[in-house]
Amino acid sequence: SRRLTLGDLATKKDAGDPIVMVTAYDHPGAQIAEEAGVDMVLVGDSGAMTVLGYDSTVPVSVDEMLMLTRAVRRGLTRPLLVGDLPFGSYEASDALAIETAQRFVKEAGCDLVKIERGGTTVDRARAIVAAGIPVVGHVGLTPQTATALGGYRAQGRTAEGALAVIDDALALQDAGCSLIVLEAVPSEITRVLKPLLRVPTIGIGAGADADGQVLVFHDLLGLLDGPQAKFVKRYADLRGAAIDGVRAYADEVRSGAYPAAEHTYGMPADEVARLQE
Ligand code: KIV
Ligand code: NA
Repeated sequence: SRRLTLGDLATKKDAGDPIVMVTAYDHPGAQIAEEAGVDMVLVGDSGAMTVLGYDSTVPVSVDEMLMLTRAVRRGLTRPLLVGDLPFGSYEASDALAIETAQRFVKEAGCDLVKIERGGTTVDRARAIVAAGIPVVGHVGLTPQTATALGGYRAQGRTAEGALAVIDDALALQDAGCSLIVLEAVPSEITRVLKPLLRVPTIGIGAGADADGQVLVFHDLLGLLDGPQAKFVKRYADLRGAAIDGVRAYADEVRSGAYPAAEHTYGMPADEVARLQE
């Protein structure tokens, strides 16, 4: 079936049909997302943590993100693909932002790119859009600059804080962003923004009023160890299932139960006879 378009997302928003987005970082993840019928796939810089083992999203490089993104591209047909520009790859100038965004389109086949924060990022968004590449804004909790925000915590829980998040979202819309991700903000902010934004909002910890939702693949499938953010719902325990599977394999190798006859190749009898001559 054909690739979705931004027009399809607008149609969904107008009809009140929630837009479904999930992250993916590799080819099987992309195929799983596609088969499950999601509308959009984000190769998030959360991959720095979920698949590359960094302790934040800050260290991941453009080349690392491009490798993950290309693998996802090869597994997708219908969902829109969003590339996440990593920390340090777009902030310094409009020229840098355009150059990096173009790499995600040319080298990894992204349909859109995502950048974090308001402030100077609003100018970068305008520049990338002017260069012909659709942009997703991302406000509220912005993990690339979490240290400056006081850590990984909900944002905009005071009236002043909420107005700052709302202003950033409106400025990103004015700059031409096609979608706005709202991360870890009170549902009141999402509700206030609803009549003010023409473009769809995609929430992650932003309540039920966003036009769509996004979750990290590894979070929703229970692939990670350790505590989860309040907004994560686990729909499976793949980590437990995987550990059980690998442990069963190890046990069977040690007991001799694996490999059995059906996992073993043989030779035709005449070839065995010739071998023994
Ligand atoms: O990197 C990521 O996974 C994200 C989503 C949580 C929006 O930016
Ligand atoms: Na991200």
